[in-house]
Amino acid sequence: MATHAITVTVNGAGERLDVPSNMTLLQMIRERLALTGTKNGCEAGECGACTVLVDGEPVNSCMMLAVEADGRQVLTVEGLAAEDRLSPLQEAFVEHNAVQCGFCTPGMLISAHALLKRNPHPDEGEIKQALVGNLCRCTGYVRIIDAIQTAADEGGM
Ligand code: FES
Ligand code: FES
Repeated sequence: MATHAITVTVNGAGERLDVPSNMTLLQMIRERLALTGTKNGCEAGECGACTVLVDGEPVNSCMMLAVEADGRQVLTVEGLAAEDRLSPLQEAFVEHNAVQCGFCTPGMLISAHALLKRNPHPDEGEIKQALVGNLCRCTGYVRIIDAIQTAADEGGM
């Protein structure tokens, strides 16, 4: 398998990596960079557990090759907290008990973070639309939507 040298910025840190042609961005994040907050759910672009931001846009990292991240900026859930303090959005998830098993949570947080960045005051319909690619098998979504609304109301993300 051919390998490719890439340079990618992950959570603000520059990384130089040799990656196989067929390695996904999800595999690179979890296995090469040990950032295991990003979850592997379906590996088929269906569940959103693997959602990260690439140049500010949410992507399913299981559906993108690592080589395609060359020269780009990636944000994972580990990049949301600042100096061991949860972000306001993460705090709101805790406050609203919007986490049960937690498997979907990193992807939810990343999608919500992207939403609040482009639209600081979304209505309920806009929040639901932003989460359309993120599946949760536990919560029924109500608490997740409430948490995002609270973070928006309090001006944080
Ligand atoms: S693991 Fe990528 S969409 Fe499910
Ligand atoms: S909290 Fe379990 S899948 Fe969402």
